[in-house]
Amino acid sequence: MTAPSVTSHRQTLNFSAGPAVLPECVLEQAARDIIDLDNTGIGVLEHSHRGPSIDRIFEEAVSDCRELGQIPDDFEILFLQGGASGQFGMIPMNFLGEGRGADYVDTGSWTTKAVKDAATIGTARVAWSGAESQYRSIPHAADIMWSGEAAYGYYCTNNTIYGTQWSEVPQCPAPLIADMSSDIFSRPIDWSRLSMVFAGAQKNIGPAGATLVIVRKDLLEQARSDLPAMFRYDVHAKKGSRYNTPPVFAVYCAGLVFKWILDLGGLDAVALMNQRKAALVYQAIDESDGFYSGHADSDARSLMNIPFTTPTPELDAAFISEAASHGMTTLKGHRSVGGIRASIYNAFPEEGCSRLAEFMREFAAANRG
Ligand SMILES: Cc1ncc(COP(=O)(O)O)c(C=O)c1O
Repeated sequence: MTAPSVTSHRQTLNFSAGPAVLPECVLEQAARDIIDLDNTGIGVLEHSHRGPSIDRIFEEAVSDCRELGQIPDDFEILFLQGGASGQFGMIPMNFLGEGRGADYVDTGSWTTKAVKDAATIGTARVAWSGAESQYRSIPHAADIMWSGEAAYGYYCTNNTIYGTQWSEVPQCPAPLIADMSSDIFSRPIDWSRLSMVFAGAQKNIGPAGATLVIVRKDLLEQARSDLPAMFRYDVHAKKGSRYNTPPVFAVYCAGLVFKWILDLGGLDAVALMNQRKAALVYQAIDESDGFYSGHADSDARSLMNIPFTTPTPELDAAFISEAASHGMTTLKGHRSVGGIRASIYNAFPEEGCSRLAEFMREFAAANRG
């Protein structure tokens, strides 16, 4: 298989962790459809969410999502609101019955927040924590202490802030739920080990506003029904993600992004492309004779987010400002890790990774002590 390559005509390279760069063809189509969708004389932002044009958009978004993700028929595909953070609460609300607990693998800030929210509803056990090693690693299967009696297990496939990523889905004795906000559809997904996946849209799927939830029907059947309607997965499933006014524009863009990835050759093809892109940046780190240090352990490196530092915070700041003057923006690291972070999601152009790697080499040569 030959990996596709994403190109861009835009001069500015956007390394933002999210909201993040979107495919140019999606933005161009959206710009046209904002004025007039399907020759209806009405723009996509103005159509009723119950009219035929939006029916088509939702139907296609769901069927393209299923085709792209190779999602089995026993999973429901929902578009909800409240961001990925909304799921931190909605998951325990739905699946932690009276006196039940859940097992969480804590690999960084986003899982820590999920644990905190779950603890407001029931018992959230931490089955493994990377806190002591500054979240540089991903656990080995044998080190995760699943309790065996949990209502569900929970983990995050890609840790946006710390730049670590699981290479495979862990085996969990309970139904396993994954936060895939920052690496969904960047590679194939092993559904045989998963009961639910969710992702905020604003990294690999589209603009902020929609949260993709993919949940197995047998887990859905176990959800509590004594909750307000907006917090019930089964209500959203029954109503085709249109129980109330949905985030139509975000779902519409997600649909265009799904078609775009399908046109690139699907998840196997983008996975190869993402490996090649990330390798360009990691090579620049590894060949810098220690000038750059990556935050993640080398066997836990993310292909989506690459946090790294130079020898000093002053040089980090100089790197970020000089890079900006070369058209490379939003490279500042997250405040909890500091340094520099390059986020290179599906839509980030390959040439941008080469340009960053080249700049890294030049900057190291000019600033080596
Ligand atoms: C892995 C992960 N989970 C959850 C979130 C929270 O997403 P949201 O802002 O949509 O609530 C983020 C945001 O960056 C994230 O990277």
